[in-house]
Amino acid sequence: MAAKPRIVILTGAGVSAESGVPTFRGSDGLWEGHRIEDVATPRAFERNPALVQTFYNQRRAALKNVQPNAAHLALAELEKALGERHVTLITQNVDDLHDRAGSQNLMHMHGELLKARCVVCENVCHWDEDIQPTSPCPFCQRTGTLRPHIVWFGEMPLYMEEIETALYGADLFVAIGTSGKVYPAAGFVRLAKAAGAHTIEFNLERSDISPEFKEHRIGPAGHLVPTWVEEVIQAHP
Ligand code: OAD
Repeated sequence: MAAKPRIVILTGAGVSAESGVPTFRGSDGLWEGHRIEDVATPRAFERNPALVQTFYNQRRAALKNVQPNAAHLALAELEKALGERHVTLITQNVDDLHDRAGSQNLMHMHGELLKARCVVCENVCHWDEDIQPTSPCPFCQRTGTLRPHIVWFGEMPLYMEEIETALYGADLFVAIGTSGKVYPAAGFVRLAKAAGAHTIEFNLERSDISPEFKEHRIGPAGHLVPTWVEEVIQAHP
């Protein structure tokens, strides 16, 4: 029996598309009607906190109407079959669909819609309602200090040390549904390759980073990912 591989998986908005969560870069270049720099930068939050809070409040509320799809469920199944030490899931997504599908060894490198952070005491807490100007921080009780726990452009992604360690130890690196336009995530394939990993890209179409991958599977994640997971589980019973 072949030794179990260490698999590192990076997901992007495409993995949640079939659940009904819109991707970031639609054909009009807008993110649900907004320019990304108007809603996803620290500058935007300073300039117009109400607009930014409303935008993320709507995204958070919309999570109540979506469910994990076959791709999220298959990735959780893969972790269950091979064990947490062999499957590391890194997501750029701020939705909670991988969590709800059951993935445990999961890092939300761009933050989470269901968390809020106090800009004064810096504590992070679970938050599943709207953030209002009157919402008190559950830690320091100040009001008006909570912001979405989201990594905006110009801010440092989360878990970078753990991610680099996982990439350097990977036998297989898989990217699912990401356009490869945002760094550092877009550079992970290179790090994994440098560590000797085989690389596979799953996407509806070729992406900016397609040339970096050894293998390509073109099509919807909800169809391709369960098939691939089945193959891996059968090869490592
Ligand atoms: P994008 O919206 O840039 O790209 C989504 C990718 O998913 C595209 O390459 C699509 O072709 C692909 N795709 C769409 N539907 C798919 C499906 N059903 N199956 C497979 N692939 C599909 O999203 P990301 O690459 O995730 O950052 O964007 C990266 C970051 O940019 C986001 O995390 C966010 C954004 O600005 C922050 O907010 C910091």
